[in-house]
Amino acid sequence: MPFLMAAFVLGQSVKSMEISWSHVAPGVWRAQIGKPDSPTLLSAAKDSPEIDALRRLGEASAKPPIDLSSATGLVADEFASARVPLAKDEKLFGLGLQMHGANRRGGVYHLRVDHYSAGQDRLHAPVPLYVSSAGYAVLFNTSRPVSIYAGVGNRRGANNPAPRDRNTDPNWDAQPPSDAVEASVQGPGLEVLVFAGPSPMEAVERYNLYCGGGALPPRWALGFWHRTPSLDTAADVEQEVAEFKKRDFPIDVLGLEPGWQSKSYPCTFAWSPQRFPNPAAFVDGLRSKGVHVNLWSNPYVSPDSPIFKALEPDYGSHMVWLGPAPDLQLPSAARTIADFFTKNHLDIGVSGYKIDEIDGFDNWLWPDHATFPSGLSGLRMRQIYGLLWQRELDDMFRRQNRRTFGLVRGSNGGASRFPFALYSDTYDHREYITGMVSTGLAGVLWCAEARDAANGEEWVRRMQTAAVSHIAQLNAWASGTKPWSFAGFEDAVRSAMLFRIRLVPYLYTAFAQYHFRGTPVIRPMSLVDGGEETDQYLLGDDLLVAPMLTGEKTRKVRLPKGNWYEYASGKFAGSSQTIDIAPALDEIPVYVREGALIPTLGDNARNATLGPDSELIIRHYGPGEGRGLLYEDDGETFDYEKGHYAWERLTTPAIGLTGAIERTEGNYPSAFRKITWKHIGSG
Ligand code: GAL
Repeated sequence: MPFLMAAFVLGQSVKSMEISWSHVAPGVWRAQIGKPDSPTLLSAAKDSPEIDALRRLGEASAKPPIDLSSATGLVADEFASARVPLAKDEKLFGLGLQMHGANRRGGVYHLRVDHYSAGQDRLHAPVPLYVSSAGYAVLFNTSRPVSIYAGVGNRRGANNPAPRDRNTDPNWDAQPPSDAVEASVQGPGLEVLVFAGPSPMEAVERYNLYCGGGALPPRWALGFWHRTPSLDTAADVEQEVAEFKKRDFPIDVLGLEPGWQSKSYPCTFAWSPQRFPNPAAFVDGLRSKGVHVNLWSNPYVSPDSPIFKALEPDYGSHMVWLGPAPDLQLPSAARTIADFFTKNHLDIGVSGYKIDEIDGFDNWLWPDHATFPSGLSGLRMRQIYGLLWQRELDDMFRRQNRRTFGLVRGSNGGASRFPFALYSDTYDHREYITGMVSTGLAGVLWCAEARDAANGEEWVRRMQTAAVSHIAQLNAWASGTKPWSFAGFEDAVRSAMLFRIRLVPYLYTAFAQYHFRGTPVIRPMSLVDGGEETDQYLLGDDLLVAPMLTGEKTRKVRLPKGNWYEYASGKFAGSSQTIDIAPALDEIPVYVREGALIPTLGDNARNATLGPDSELIIRHYGPGEGRGLLYEDDGETFDYEKGHYAWERLTTPAIGLTGAIERTEGNYPSAFRKITWKHIGSG
């Protein structure tokens, strides 16, 4: 059992004390400092560790990854803090969705869910998890905002460098390094979890598996998403979808923005009788065209909502835009919402939600001192509100044995298993790519959506980045921009969107790896080989992606160990080196590892859902034998949890020879009738 270590207070002196660790899962240790209050991030997310999968990662438990005996804790005055040792040469990565930089060592981070925080990144998912280059990860599991001093803050008596004289020493340092990470909350305690590697990637896998395994979206969710302008009517939307089809642009998900509701900000959650007079027929009509409907909402309840009264006992003390916020910790609130959403949305075929405005912003959210009936303050509720909504919505679909996928603007630690991607009102292209890369260290997903652009070139580059993100989305809620809005650039945009669609079997496999093995879909270089690049990443096992920004004609790409080939041409690109590239406007720089077999859809594919004529094309790169993976299941339900899935091993002996597909796990019969093996390039 974790052991409580209180502060040792003697007159004026406060001593930190050793903490006691318990081994809670293969390769996972936990300690408590003080009396952590409930819920924590992990308990709010109601995670259940995937113990078998953790065990498959290797027990790694004989020895903790760091000297836990030198970690200390302290509860004094209003703070509880933890001090975790740090070696001199360790780099630190992570700390949630971060739009800048990679190595966090030397920084101070105040991790508080916030829409905007002056001088800091937007804190849509300030996951208090860091990953060390030495191959372990540490989570501060608390629903309180956490301040992290990542190798700075010099405690007396610790192993500090000698002071320097600023008068004479040019190497004087304003932030002398420290030998620890210190983390604190204003509260009675916090829990610390340490995840063993041995590599940084395995530490992240272990964290994701401990959180229940990464999300496995329905297959259709990996196609192309389009969100229509806020006040569009059903007829406008139907016309827009028809236009996509006519112009041969893929569309899998249609996102409705605020106007589908009778009132919004605060929200009724009820369809507008004027704009959507027959919601069931509308949703059904789109479904028959292979298009899934996703609904925007924020959680604040309009007095005109049909469930306003039923939720009355469950509201917090304060309102947002004059709509109260239901306390989703209470089963009664969760039930009222689930009943209404199920009857009015799910039962007519709605596929998921975009939960907006949940990340708070001091100007409009409830104050920190707000109270909620379950006993949480506004401050703590803000930290977990996104988790609670994701959990409830996911459960709602789960009860129907249907998978969902959606968007959410606030999340936190413990979210790995939730099928939601984050997004932001910011719109800096470079930050979007850095943010996307950072999610691989945080158990969250990111939607690098395209919204509008100053010119055709920017539009193409934005849509290309969207195509290689967790959700490929055009969000035209304000701009009304269409894929074809920039004359002369439609073909380049279409080709980015079709690239995405064709990649679905590979992407779906990468998500299955996230789910079953905890391996992130978008893998930062810090996890691949310790690199600190924030503008390139691995997508799944074998693709290296290096998106282009507007105005860039050239860029550098660092190819990790081994030989790499250009995705489209199969041309040899280089080997363990940094290359200079000058891709054409219609090219997304994507490189393939030698020997990879990439499962893709045939050229006739126009959306992510498989049909009887779906062709599987297995692309083979490099001169020698090939190997790859393919995951299949029904793409829609949770039957994979009962073994109804298949992991298939792809192998081919050499160029020009047909390969073999061998099922190694599960009982799902492959959906592909037509399979083509294709060597790309001359070899
Ligand atoms: C914003 C959100 C946008 C859009 C808009 C609709 O808060 O970030 O993506 O949904 O609300 O009013």
